[in-house]
Amino acid sequence: MLPASLIDLSDFSSEEWQKIVSLALKIKEHPEAYFGRCEGKILATLFYEPSTRTQMSFQTAMLRLGGQTIGFDNPMNSSVAKGENLRDTIKIISGYADILVIRHPMEGAAKAAALNADCPVINAGDGGHLHPTQTLTDLVTLMQEKGRLDHLTIGLCGDLKNGRTVHSLIKTLAPFQNRFVLISTKDLCIPQYIRDILDANGSSYEEVFSLEEAISELDVLYMTRIQKERFASQEEYDAQKDVYVLDKEKLSHAKGSLRILHPLPRVDEITVDVDDDSRAVYFKQAVNGVYARMALILTLLSSEEKTPVPTGKEIKTATCRNTKCITHTEPYLPSCFQECGDMLICDYCEDRFLI
Ligand code: NCD
Repeated sequence: MLPASLIDLSDFSSEEWQKIVSLALKIKEHPEAYFGRCEGKILATLFYEPSTRTQMSFQTAMLRLGGQTIGFDNPMNSSVAKGENLRDTIKIISGYADILVIRHPMEGAAKAAALNADCPVINAGDGGHLHPTQTLTDLVTLMQEKGRLDHLTIGLCGDLKNGRTVHSLIKTLAPFQNRFVLISTKDLCIPQYIRDILDANGSSYEEVFSLEEAISELDVLYMTRIQKERFASQEEYDAQKDVYVLDKEKLSHAKGSLRILHPLPRVDEITVDVDDDSRAVYFKQAVNGVYARMALILTLLSSEEKTPVPTGKEIKTATCRNTKCITHTEPYLPSCFQECGDMLICDYCEDRFLI
């Protein structure tokens, strides 16, 4: 039984998400065979944060499948501006649409939405936490470019702390036999929970500072933008920006078979002259986002029996310590946690703390 919603790709078995990736590649080959498959269905896009690719690729995907779309891309033009809570907005829109896509600045918001929705919910990015449909896009691109998702040396470079695309990709690929080279400054290294997932899977990984030193051994380089909007101050952002810039000189030390991915948007972490290098596949990757999302919409709308969003144990006396967690702005949400030894793991944002 498939999960009803896509909040975290880890809620799907690897067979289930691999089927979605294969379907995306099939759709890419013969898109016309899938036109009209969602006729009469409505997809709602609720974007509480800016987006170009994710929002428009979802809209394109639904239109190509013959369905229609509704939604907002500025919550201040919706009843959110009048103080409506997430629960009520979701309740109402899930009564209008057949499937709902949400992007929100708070971590765990998509899960909170799914718990209150009467239709499938897709997480299109919840703060600095996860971005599973970007991961589907990345996996389609890796299959297309490398023909496999294992035995790869994958470098991830830039804002590994706040980059939700990085977290989702590592979580999904950790159980496969890949080697991760995590390239960042100390301040922007991966969160502890991602390190714990790598350890639990026995994954090989190293955390390094220098892109120059790491680049020659990589099969895949996943560049990311420094996530300005997640910084507490301009000074903190200024201290991190421009540390990593992939240019032609650095690329001259890389393998001919390297593939450079980037979820985009790019700021200045890849110079524009790299775009002409055949190893740069980020624009192809953005196009794959449409096929990945067509495959996902088709899968979620066609599965008959679905498992509800998994929830942990409600502990009324406990509060998540992560100030960016949705439980702080939507206080009616049940305080649910997974218990792990002497730690509690927040069900929404995965922040973990000692009891
Ligand atoms: C990413 C995101 O929103 O997390 N963009 C995207 O969806 N393609 C990456 C980013 O904004 O840096």
